[in-house]
Amino acid sequence: MSNIFQEISPELSATPVREVFYPELPRLLPYAYHPKAAQIEIASNGWIRKHLTACFAGEEELLFFLRQRNGIYGPLTVPEAEAQRALDIADWYQYVTVIDSSVSDRSALGADEGAARRVFADIVADFTVEDGTGEPAGADTPEVVVRSTAEVAYGTAAKDLWRRISPGLSPAQKRRFGASLAAFLRGCASEIEAKLTGNVPDYETCIQVRLDSFGCDFIELMTEYGAAVDMSEFLPELADVHVHCRRQMIIINDLLSWRKEQAQDDKMTVVRVLTEREGLGLQDAVNRLCELVEQHERTYIELRDGLLAGPLGERAEVVAYLRALDHMMGGSQEFEYLTPRYYGDGSVWDGSTSGWLDLDAPIVRFRAEPAALTPEATGQAGPPAALRCPVDHGRAPGSADSAAAAPATAPAPAPAPATPHSNGNGHRSAAPRTWRVATAQGAVPVLGHALHLWRRPLEFLAGLPGQGDLVEIRLGPKKAYLACHPDLVMQVLLDARTFDKGGPLFEKARLLVGNGLVSSEFDDHRTQRRMLQPAFHPSRMPGYVSLMREEVEAVLADWREGEAFDVSDAMHALTLRITARTMFSTSVGERAIPEVAYCMPLIMRGVYQRMVAPTGWQERIPTPGNRRFDALRERMHAVIGETIEDQRRAGADRGDLLSILVNARDEDTGEGLSDAEIYDQVMTLLIGGTETTGNTMAWVFHVLAEHPEIERRLHAELDEVLPDGRAPEFADLPRLDYTWRVLHETLRMYPPAWLLTRATTKRTELGGKVLEPGTIVMYSPYSLGRQAGHFEDPERFDPDRWLPDRSAGVPRGAMVPFSAGNRKCIGDTFGQAETTLTLATIATRWRLRPAPGAKPNVAVPKASLGTGPLDMIPTPRSRAVRPDSLTPSQVS
Ligand code: HEM
Repeated sequence: MSNIFQEISPELSATPVREVFYPELPRLLPYAYHPKAAQIEIASNGWIRKHLTACFAGEEELLFFLRQRNGIYGPLTVPEAEAQRALDIADWYQYVTVIDSSVSDRSALGADEGAARRVFADIVADFTVEDGTGEPAGADTPEVVVRSTAEVAYGTAAKDLWRRISPGLSPAQKRRFGASLAAFLRGCASEIEAKLTGNVPDYETCIQVRLDSFGCDFIELMTEYGAAVDMSEFLPELADVHVHCRRQMIIINDLLSWRKEQAQDDKMTVVRVLTEREGLGLQDAVNRLCELVEQHERTYIELRDGLLAGPLGERAEVVAYLRALDHMMGGSQEFEYLTPRYYGDGSVWDGSTSGWLDLDAPIVRFRAEPAALTPEATGQAGPPAALRCPVDHGRAPGSADSAAAAPATAPAPAPAPATPHSNGNGHRSAAPRTWRVATAQGAVPVLGHALHLWRRPLEFLAGLPGQGDLVEIRLGPKKAYLACHPDLVMQVLLDARTFDKGGPLFEKARLLVGNGLVSSEFDDHRTQRRMLQPAFHPSRMPGYVSLMREEVEAVLADWREGEAFDVSDAMHALTLRITARTMFSTSVGERAIPEVAYCMPLIMRGVYQRMVAPTGWQERIPTPGNRRFDALRERMHAVIGETIEDQRRAGADRGDLLSILVNARDEDTGEGLSDAEIYDQVMTLLIGGTETTGNTMAWVFHVLAEHPEIERRLHAELDEVLPDGRAPEFADLPRLDYTWRVLHETLRMYPPAWLLTRATTKRTELGGKVLEPGTIVMYSPYSLGRQAGHFEDPERFDPDRWLPDRSAGVPRGAMVPFSAGNRKCIGDTFGQAETTLTLATIATRWRLRPAPGAKPNVAVPKASLGTGPLDMIPTPRSRAVRPDSLTPSQVS
């Protein structure tokens, strides 16, 4: 497949390798995904296809655009918005990105400033309101001159957006909207002009143009729209905050998009200004910009806290807006890492911006050292000291190092999402945070707390947050720390370099998955994630969903009224088949699936027992149990090995995951993966994709049987969205809102990944405690989800707690069933689609009730939190007699 850099500048491949060291940028502002980010991204891509296809030269170009993931910018920057508004915003940003992309492409709008200005004038007309009714004036008037199909497309999309967005804006906001769009288009035109004349402006001129072409005015307006507030009357007071917010976003954008922009010969970027106008070397320019980002972030935070401490802090709408603005900044930065367009098609940010970046390689890979400067050549690891990041961004907050490295003139270390100073509303107080560090009660000699984790793990874990924010646990001779406070959890998850995969869970998981994605350490993980990511791209979801439908239908065909069965087994069998079918094309996978289905649950149990064993000697004794465990692993190895061989023989790319793995090649060496490496990834995905979703499904049926009123509301939604009792299609998923809430609440109370471990790679500090290298740090989505401090009445199953206005106050680190940071579940969208579809299909047709005496057995310790055997009896939901066929409005 060709890539953007080759398309734009084919001669680049002939130039010598040019590299620059990118220091890590500060991450002082929080970011979060909208709870419906995946659905919104998918729906928004559908919107682009519907309205803007004509703006692309062909299907391939359109697909290229969609692969850049612009549809996630909206959900990332307004994570707390009501879902429809978030979708409006996502579409809006996609719309302006289409324009922006055309501007940077010399063959499209960017080829001719005059033509672009004419198109832009029409677009502004489409959004202009003259009578305050919200109707776009000029849209249907004869003076709108249609010049090409693409212009019609811009216009139709504009009308659709305006129809949706304008009713949510006040008259003052509507006026600002028109002006902001005009400013954006003016900025775009100035960029075209600079490109055509070859002028590189000075820093301030460049910033002024970028403020417009970046869309800063409407970014703030969209933030208001997302938060459902109107800041028009407060703009003067907010001006200073906005200055630093805007500059931070622009500099980060220009820094991270530099590869793309220099390839496109873009003149209007601060990197080029510093190198070509100010005479800095590229490395110095990058370092300087990194410092500026830090300064703008800190100043923004200081000013924002000042506003909150003053009279405006009493205004709920201002507080809500500033909170939303934090997310806008944090989310915008996250997006810059996430979009493949800066790094080469198909690639995504791999967890860090730090490292050497090849400016010309087709797909970027951050290296620990420059290609021309290997450790062997220089005798030192990492970048030369002069090129290290000029600023320590306080990644280990509160550590002596970070305080000393802060610029002397900078305000006191500023708030970060993962650091310990946030108060309840997500903002920081100036006072340093005092953490409660404790040792868990109930240790016994020799074994420490291992018996508690063995016998009553959930109860034990749920009790620890009450004892401290960071709690020390002893597993035999080993010490471990449970991060109980959400901020500490986020610190751990967002600093994956320091808190790397390790600890008992992953050491033992390696027995099963070797060095697969879930267990690999930081450096290997980057490469692996990049390789597997394409298999989880949203564009593949519709295909996966139709495959899921087939499998669910096949399972339901065997259900008989009144015949009890183990729902946990059934759901695991189902999810295993679904994962296996996405991994192996039907022909090669058919033999492997039953074998895997037999071996895997038994192996999983053995892995957990080894994880919590106080010492390692037991597993080495040749007891019948240990021999069985080893035999099962070998059996699994054999059958998957054969499947890999089959695939290698077949050769063809069937579009399944195994084909991706077998055909993957290292960019540098051209080498493929060995069978052992493929085996590890196959096992990782089989386990990651089966246990988690299977357990979620078993729990949700248990919960529904216990809460008939919730089941009734679920049925009401299903009857409305799927009126003919059919299985949902991919396009139905975003409409299954209550279904999603039920599943999300299930994940809060019964997160399959209930305890996870990390190991520190260097001396660091967490919650005020200095941790030596190799210290085990754990987090438990189960214990986090049961904390009364974050969830009102946590033992109550209440799906409505995930309604946007109620969930807004939940700290980010309190609800992490899919984890966060660069080790976040790669299959989260897949898993959510799978559980939503399965629940919707089954609950549309069947009601499940426990067989007499059946109940979940959570005392059975496993690596994933399941119900244990759970016999349930199916009864068809007969539409005619169903007492629960109320509409959602009647029951809500
Ligand atoms: C309800 C469904 C799911 C839940 C609750 C879940 C949960 C998680 C969690 C918590 C992690 C991070 C572990 C850590 O922090 O150490 C994770 C990682 C992972 N999950 Fe999932 N998962 C689900 C579905 C899936 C599916 C369907 C797949 C694959 C088809 C999958 C594959 C993986 C992989 C490969 C990783 C490792 C990611 C990495 O380290 O880059 N998961 N999952």
